Amino acid sequence: MKKNSATRLRKIRTWQPGKKDCELVLPLKNKESNVSLIDLASNDYLGLSQNPELIEAAHSTMLSEGLGAGGSRLVTGSRPIHNKLEKELSEWLEVDKVLLFPSGFQANIAAVNILANRHTTVIADKLIHHSLLVGIKASGTRIKRFAHNNINDLEKLIKECIQVKPNYRPLVITESLFSMEGTCPNLKKIAALCRSYKAMLLVDEAHAIGVLGDKGRGMCFGISDPITMISGTFGKAFGSGGAFLATNHEIGEQIIQASGAFQYTTALAPPLAAGALAGLKLIKKNPHWMQTLQKDSLSWRTALLKEGWTTSKGIGPIIPLILGTDNESLSKQRQLEANGLLTIAIRPPTVPEGTSRLRIVIRKNLPTNTLKKFIHHLGEKK
Ligand SMILES: Cc1ncc(COP(=O)(O)O)c(C=O)c1O
Repeated sequence: MKKNSATRLRKIRTWQPGKKDCELVLPLKNKESNVSLIDLASNDYLGLSQNPELIEAAHSTMLSEGLGAGGSRLVTGSRPIHNKLEKELSEWLEVDKVLLFPSGFQANIAAVNILANRHTTVIADKLIHHSLLVGIKASGTRIKRFAHNNINDLEKLIKECIQVKPNYRPLVITESLFSMEGTCPNLKKIAALCRSYKAMLLVDEAHAIGVLGDKGRGMCFGISDPITMISGTFGKAFGSGGAFLATNHEIGEQIIQASGAFQYTTALAPPLAAGALAGLKLIKKNPHWMQTLQKDSLSWRTALLKEGWTTSKGIGPIIPLILGTDNESLSKQRQLEANGLLTIAIRPPTVPEGTSRLRIVIRKNLPTNTLKKFIHHLGEKK
């Protein structure tokens, strides 16, 4: 096992739900200290994991269909709820085909392995998620990284790649809302670039789906240039678990016929699929949720910048407070936690060296005065 310094050691801490003190916001409790904490850390952006409609949908599906699917989609695991969720998602996102996966990590591995083989060059943003890197490694492709959200650098790499391998389409990979940076790329420009060089484009919408874009349909929605594939998860804004890939008919069929990550895994548990479908219905019905979340996120960013803290430019609910050292991030985490506010210190290798940070997640319906309380307990900048 690799040796880590004390500030890099990972520990599993267990959080238990506390008593609800306001609509849809569940305070978490640290099991050891029993202190009730406002959750400014999880990806349950809309509080849907606690929503009674999702819980009821999952419960009734569990009673009628059982807990697990008991088989893969191609053997005995496919249920009407899977088809229903795939159909509703494909209509909502206006794509040909949606296929479900048990997790976003797995969906990303499947996505890369369907779009790339050992002849392909993958050109990926420097900060893409670990699951995509695992997929790239498994596919045996060459990888080139472009500077985070830097279109010029991306274009330079695409050109180089086409010169070396004119007969192979490169695969460009990025995310629509970066999970540790809170930043969004200019996807319109990236899609146009990919079209002009005939490159494929895979976009991980894990953090944006249900939160950003037209009525929460993600940042790819409405872009006229083709996006080869989108991956999304139900484990974040959708308040459930599982994930999906959205693509055209042809590639969708390739996934069914040739993706081991789709074929050889137990189908998404039916109660989770039912929960995700109930989440989708609520997201469709409440577009104002996304507007409020974005407005609140802007207020937090503005207030933190006004207090002199360093954060990223962004529109979504992920706000990194860049502190630099591991010690500073861990000490701020402890300080806030002691005062009932939960944010997590994110350290290298999850983020680049020298950029340890607190990852603040703004959620729907935070108790009033949370921002004021946060700024107060954050204390002085060193
Ligand atoms: C950008 C990104 N993609 C994919 C995943 C994986 O999703 P899941 O949690 O459904 O496995 C995550 C989860 O942390 C993520 O942040």
